Amino acid sequence: MNFSAAATSAAPPLIVGIGGSTRPRSSGELALRYCLNRAEEAGAQTELLSAEDLQLPMYEPAPTMTDPRAARLVDLVGRADALIIASPAYHAGISGLVKNALDHLEELRLASPPYLDGKAIGCITTAQGPQGGALTLSALRSVVHALRGWPTPLGVVIDTSRRTRTRNHSRPAQHHDRPSAQRDPAPQRYLATQRYLATQRTSTYELARRRLND
Ligand SMILES: Cc1cc2nc3c(=O)[nH]c(=O)nc-3n(C[C@H](O)[C@H](O)[C@H](O)COP(=O)(O)O)c2cc1C
Repeated sequence: MNFSAAATSAAPPLIVGIGGSTRPRSSGELALRYCLNRAEEAGAQTELLSAEDLQLPMYEPAPTMTDPRAARLVDLVGRADALIIASPAYHAGISGLVKNALDHLEELRLASPPYLDGKAIGCITTAQGPQGGALTLSALRSVVHALRGWPTPLGVVIDTSRRTRTRNHSRPAQHHDRPSAQRDPAPQRYLATQRYLATQRTSTYELARRRLND
């Protein structure tokens, strides 16, 4: 999919990435950066709202919003053609950081279109195991539905525990834990993750493209 202005004779779509965690080298943030880089290569404009940008006061419905980071979030989401949202699984649900940010989108209730209406929303979860990630993905997609967004057909669960798993889980991974380079499935897992993310990108772009061409 190519979104260059020449190909579409329109302004390139704006794709906003939201999420990750405050953890250094957050895997959710890395996944978002990967997707947004691919989006830019395809001709989209992108913006990233990472954990640093999402440390907002607890949302409460109020007549005026004073926090500049909250105002930036609402402004960017209101102008976006598509979003990619990444949340870690925290006790089998969306992290408070990401949920609070999404609650701030209540400020778009009177926008035109309201909330996330008509926007393609790619959803990514990161977890230390498949179950928490799948449950969190389901929760995230439900929140997107409640905000009138369109979750892309493919959601992505990244099992971060598989990156460092060893035969002895009580100590950090060491090089000699690997029986041999050929038998080590880590590269295959890495490639599988890249393929998932690429498919996620394609789904998100396809919906954004259709929306722009309507
Ligand atoms: C408070 C807390 C709760 C967590 N709960 C779960 C959980 O229920 N299931 C799970 O698989 N992982 C759980 N995790 C692990 C994180 O989901 C996992 O480390 C994830 O990769 C973090 O994403 P990040 O790299 O973007 O910080 C939890 C971590 C924390 C800090």
